[in-house]
Amino acid sequence: MIRHDNFIHYKTGIQSIDDDHWKLISMMNDIIDQLNEDIDVSHLLSKFTKELQDHFNREELEMIKINFPYYKFHKQEHIRLANEMTKINLINTHIIEKLELVLIQHIDTYDMQIGTFNQ
Ligand SMILES: [Fe+2]
Ligand SMILES: [Fe+2]
Repeated sequence: MIRHDNFIHYKTGIQSIDDDHWKLISMMNDIIDQLNEDIDVSHLLSKFTKELQDHFNREELEMIKINFPYYKFHKQEHIRLANEMTKINLINTHIIEKLELVLIQHIDTYDMQIGTFNQ
């Protein structure tokens, strides 16, 4: 499980994006903690989904700002992941895997490219 202390690894160097990622990973950790304690996470999940969409929008504006060449491709991936989030339901036993897919794997494989390009 990804915790805050591993987060330094995921810095893109663009402050607004990194701040958003920090917040989303923190929300994800809270969801995992509550799942582990058998607490209903429906409210946290809908909050996370909204935050994620807001973040995608902000990140897309940042990509436009720096003329990121893979913007269209990256945006398509955001649309795909937002769609994945709509398929989460509370009897889904794969909530954590889904969150890792839409957040951690995406940051690692897609968002880090923005930071590399922006250097
Ligand atoms: Fe992204
Ligand atoms: Fe992102």
